[in-house]
Amino acid sequence: KMIYLKDYQVPDYLIDETHLTFELFEDHTLVHAQLVMRRNPDAGAGLPALVLDGQQLELLELKLDDRVLGAADYQLTDSHLTLQPTQEQFVIDSSVRIHPESNTALEGLYKSSGMFCTQCEAEGFRKITYYLDRPDVMSTFTTTLSAEQHRYPVLLSNGNPIASGSEEGGRHWATWEDPFKKPAYLFALVAGDLWCVEDRFTTMSAREVTLRIYVEPENIDKVQHAMDSLKKSMKWDEEVYGREYDLDIFMIVAVNDFNMGAMENKGLNIFNSSCVLAKAETATDAAHQRVEAVVAHEYFHNWSGNRVTCRDWFQLSLKEGFTVFRDAEFSADMNSRTVKRIEDVAYLRTHQFAEDAGPMAHPVRPDSFMEISNFYTLTVYEKGSEVLRMIHTLLGPQLFRKGSDLYFARHDGQAVTCDDFIKAMEDASGVDLTQFKRWYSQAGTPRLEVSESYDAAANTYRLQLRQSCPATPGQAEKLPFVIPLELALLDAQGRELPLQLVGEDKPVGTSRVLQVTQAEQAFTFVNIAEQPLPSLLRGFSAPVKLSFPYSRDQLMFLMQHDSDGFNRWEAGQQLAVQVLQELIGQHQRGELLVLDPRLVAALRSVLENDSLDQAMVAEMLSLPGEGYLTEISDVADVDAIHAAREFARAQLAEALFEPLWARYQANREVSRNTPYVAESAHFARRSLQNIALSYLMLTGKPQVLAAALEQYEACDNMTERLTALAVLVNSPFEAEKAEALKAFAEHFKDNALVMDQWFSVQAACTLPGGLARVQALMQHPAFTMKNPNKVRALIGAFAGQNLVNFHAADGSGYRFLADQVISLNATNPQIASRQLGPLTRWRKYDASRQALMRAELERILASGELSSDVFEVVSKSLA
Ligand code: ARG
Ligand code: ZN
Repeated sequence: KMIYLKDYQVPDYLIDETHLTFELFEDHTLVHAQLVMRRNPDAGAGLPALVLDGQQLELLELKLDDRVLGAADYQLTDSHLTLQPTQEQFVIDSSVRIHPESNTALEGLYKSSGMFCTQCEAEGFRKITYYLDRPDVMSTFTTTLSAEQHRYPVLLSNGNPIASGSEEGGRHWATWEDPFKKPAYLFALVAGDLWCVEDRFTTMSAREVTLRIYVEPENIDKVQHAMDSLKKSMKWDEEVYGREYDLDIFMIVAVNDFNMGAMENKGLNIFNSSCVLAKAETATDAAHQRVEAVVAHEYFHNWSGNRVTCRDWFQLSLKEGFTVFRDAEFSADMNSRTVKRIEDVAYLRTHQFAEDAGPMAHPVRPDSFMEISNFYTLTVYEKGSEVLRMIHTLLGPQLFRKGSDLYFARHDGQAVTCDDFIKAMEDASGVDLTQFKRWYSQAGTPRLEVSESYDAAANTYRLQLRQSCPATPGQAEKLPFVIPLELALLDAQGRELPLQLVGEDKPVGTSRVLQVTQAEQAFTFVNIAEQPLPSLLRGFSAPVKLSFPYSRDQLMFLMQHDSDGFNRWEAGQQLAVQVLQELIGQHQRGELLVLDPRLVAALRSVLENDSLDQAMVAEMLSLPGEGYLTEISDVADVDAIHAAREFARAQLAEALFEPLWARYQANREVSRNTPYVAESAHFARRSLQNIALSYLMLTGKPQVLAAALEQYEACDNMTERLTALAVLVNSPFEAEKAEALKAFAEHFKDNALVMDQWFSVQAACTLPGGLARVQALMQHPAFTMKNPNKVRALIGAFAGQNLVNFHAADGSGYRFLADQVISLNATNPQIASRQLGPLTRWRKYDASRQALMRAELERILASGELSSDVFEVVSKSLA
């Protein structure tokens, strides 16, 4: 069943107070709910029927104002409980029985590694009790939990603890009170045998806040990095957004079985353990940075999401796009800003652009859905963040801050829309964002074609721009977007020229933001004494596909001279794309592959430049991934892409052996003598060291193998160890590979998160026989389909990263993935649906692969009772 934004109606009834009591047992849980309700004054006259949401609940008792209702007094279906109020104000009491102990979907109340926990966003609360489970119904909550004392010594819920005690029979209880009104999706409870690390934070108005991170006892040594990240986040949000924390206590709980990364429940964030636990020996640099980013993201939701929430789920990007933008800026301030931008853009262009071009394409604010869980997407999150970044660029930091202050002040305690957010930005800044709002309603990635003409006689330089946006499902025609185009013009020495447009009386800086608002538009610069080279879309100032007819020599010039670090990297990527596309063509025509020596020269000068940030060197050495090369192809030739890219890597490794080896040895030497530090200079050193090692290994030289083995055995951290393992796994050194894999698994067999890495490295190995390796690994004792991290580590990594093996011409990869989706559909629909992604991209491939992929989608469709999650994605993909 499709739900439409245009059908939104305010709720008929409101819930002012929610009082919950949970009696947790091993074979069932009892939930008693008291809802203090009233007619919504904004909803018109009369007393319509009250329709409460509820799924998989066994109703034991129902009362209306203390009167026990009989079966004749209400109607019950598998999704709703309907009854007739007789007064404007009333109290509903219900008791239900639920079964968290057998909840494999990990939505609502469930058990993970022996502890009780919850995940209610988006519509999980209706699996806990009968309720108005929609974000515009906001209530205060009081929650009492009771459980067996020795199994569940820790009992947590939202807000502040107000009472606790013991009962007979070895049970105890605790009551929590959350004074802030919130929608049910922010409810949480936890009961388990947990330890915590405690710290404190003094807010800007000198309030003391207790901070606690709860984990299973064996993980107590892996919490400090998350705690440090939390304190940094709290400080940053005060400084950059003026946002202060509002309860006396802030808690994070790590759970092993979690569908997503983490959840911002009020005062009680629940995290996938992969986004909390980090220490040198067991987590990579990337994992440390992810922990820092996710801790910040969930903390920032306390304002952008909780204090001001969404009116309905179509507005999801109101909180998610904004909060991703906030966490990205936080990470940029804590680490290298340019490197963070490069990583985010590479990810967006590979994955979100593919989503925007596929059958599930939808606007940042979707206008319909069948299953909201399917819309926690790269478009809502990452493109949504790009939309916020563009507003920030158009308004500038001061007016943007004025706008966010106004938004929080105006809407504190409310459930609002993306339009309300934009209105606050407009009112605070005086900028009209009417046309800009098309970014919220039009799906698809805009193209921006730029051409130039220089008039030497008139000293003018003209840029002609054409924007367009391809059709997406349900949207044939698109209107022009507002595209902030940041640019500079470089002279022959690489200096930025003063930028003066026709009609301006003087130049306005040397790097500036032009607003492209028309389908076709031109900008003419005056007083340009020589033919310049444009540096366009600096910092990736808009999420568009830019094209400009750069020659390879011009790209090499930009790589060396552009003062915008992001665009220096981007020039290198464009050069590599041109070179790789040439190799792909040669491969397809059966010609001998010949690498353009200019790519070698360009990367040599990057490697030999000691003044460049090492992380930038590492980024510039990274060739565009196979996923990105697929995305930019009309018809992706998987084998040619793989062959071309591997050929280029091998050639670069041979040609640049000396400087790579020098860089590797110098950095490994420092790593060997420096204890692990999770800071950006150290991330930078290790990233260059590790990419150098992965190139060097392609030469097969004995000294490189020795170096990889030395790094594997002697390092003190997971970043170096996992890279060493990965290069061995992808190498032809079978004995060393087997030995390292065995030693690793023996050493880390009890650490599930480390074993995830071990699975992933093998799942992503592109050597022939990938599917057989993955199938064998599914039998490994550390693997289980019940744990989402394991599914992602093995099946997700295979289908998403190991493109040559997944797209094997016989369709075996597709058949395998469909089998896994069919099995997951019955146990965990959200995870099943997410694993489908690679099959939905069938239009990108040749006719024979298309047919094989479609056949698997058809087979899933015919496989029996499908969840709404899987049904929506499969049916839209086949439409
Ligand atoms: N709000 C969470 C976050 O982004 C994600 C919750 C996702 N839940 C879901 N059912 N898809 O921080
Ligand atoms: Zn979020």
